[in-house]
Amino acid sequence: MRIHQYERLWLIGAMVLIVGFIVTITYGAVGLGITMVDDQEATLPPDDIDDDERFADPRVEQVGEDEYEAYVVAMTFIYQPDPIEVPANSEVTFYVTSRDVIHSFTVVGTNTNTMVIPGEVSVMTVEFDEPGEYGVVCNEYCGSGHHDMEGELIVHP
Ligand code: CUA
Repeated sequence: MRIHQYERLWLIGAMVLIVGFIVTITYGAVGLGITMVDDQEATLPPDDIDDDERFADPRVEQVGEDEYEAYVVAMTFIYQPDPIEVPANSEVTFYVTSRDVIHSFTVVGTNTNTMVIPGEVSVMTVEFDEPGEYGVVCNEYCGSGHHDMEGELIVHP
């Protein structure tokens, strides 16, 4: 009788752990997905890019004292604008969309990296403390020119 109770306790304990692991894994994966792509009303069909006041003219815009917004369009096999130019000691929110297929917006040597999906706008905010020059590359296979798809990000002093 006593042993049976201990066994039950162990069983319950093990099940709580298993459920805990599953919740952690599921919750963690979902959280990661939300960080990578902002899916709150962030849709934009590729056909509407030319009529969208943000993306019709891809650019960097100052929105606060040290705050900027960058509207970036990815397509086979370039990024616009190129180069992307921002000042040091600034906070830049990138809005990136694709004109055609899935690309990525990856700033080499940093943790700035997002998938760029046609029909969606990827949003991420990055702080730039130091001046520098970075390559922007595509991590998602997007066709014959995938390996040459690159841009430049310049952080001015
Ligand atoms: Cu764009 Cu690979």
